[in-house]
Amino acid sequence: MVRGFYLKRALRAPKNDPLPLVPLLTQATKHLGIVPTISTSFYPPYLLARLIATLDLMSKGRVGCNFVTSTAERAAQNFGLDAHLDHDLRYEMAEEFVDLVEKLWSSWDADAIVADRDTGAFVDPAKVRAIDYKGRFFSSRGPLNTARPPQGRPVLIQAGGSPQGRAFAAKHMDCVIAALGTVEEMTAFRLDLRKRVAAAGRDPDSCKVFFVVTPTLGETKEEAQERGRRRQAQRDASPELALAQMGSLTDIDFSTSMRRWPNSRPTGSKAR
Ligand SMILES: Cc1cc2nc3c(=O)[nH]c(=O)nc-3n(C[C@H](O)[C@H](O)[C@H](O)COP(=O)(O)O)c2cc1C
Repeated sequence: MVRGFYLKRALRAPKNDPLPLVPLLTQATKHLGIVPTISTSFYPPYLLARLIATLDLMSKGRVGCNFVTSTAERAAQNFGLDAHLDHDLRYEMAEEFVDLVEKLWSSWDADAIVADRDTGAFVDPAKVRAIDYKGRFFSSRGPLNTARPPQGRPVLIQAGGSPQGRAFAAKHMDCVIAALGTVEEMTAFRLDLRKRVAAAGRDPDSCKVFFVVTPTLGETKEEAQERGRRRQAQRDASPELALAQMGSLTDIDFSTSMRRWPNSRPTGSKAR
């Protein structure tokens, strides 16, 4: 078990739920878009649609939503499943999830709020509709009891890089986040995504790609380089840390294979 290793180094916990941080961040900023991540495998779609619509309304259109399907078996267990759902099934759920939340966000027309003092009417009831959604995984009567988000729908992002993840992005998303190592990989990813977006009948420019970068900062270039060297030396001195970080991303427990490494500490050592 690697639980102790992760906790000691704060690799996965403690961290805060992203949703309550959103209004704090939007109040402290003026121009940034803030996009919390939610899992389509564990969130109830109606609740999510209302939460994001509320945050988007309160920030006057600066909040989006990053839809992930989640990989961790342990996360699934936290939400009451014995084992996580199969990868492709998770994407089938995600498709339906996004389809449903988009319908909820559209359940109010843009001009549904009339706020007419003379007639005393706040909302025009003809411009708010039930959606009566009945899917394979999710159902919702609707309409949403929050008004329509300022831009019709919030900005939609997703972060899965598999063919299923890219197909999901091509159909629904405004942006994709991808973590790739080289410029060549990034170019190939972007070209593939643009093809898929076009094949889904959309303008390829309507789906942007964000590549994850981890800059090392310093007051001067030399200071940043020195800091980068120190970090690399720390990583080199601790193969366990590199493996734990990789294990955290891939949901593979490398602690057992560590024991077979020539320079690794014996099983049950203090590192775990
Ligand atoms: C840059 C990036 C950020 C991600 N952030 C999260 C996250 O915060 N929470 C989460 O459960 N999954 C997160 N994921 C996992 C993905 O959304 C997705 O579940 C995983 O990559 C498996 O999908 P795939 O097989 O299509 O890549 C992230 C993935 C990437 C690439």
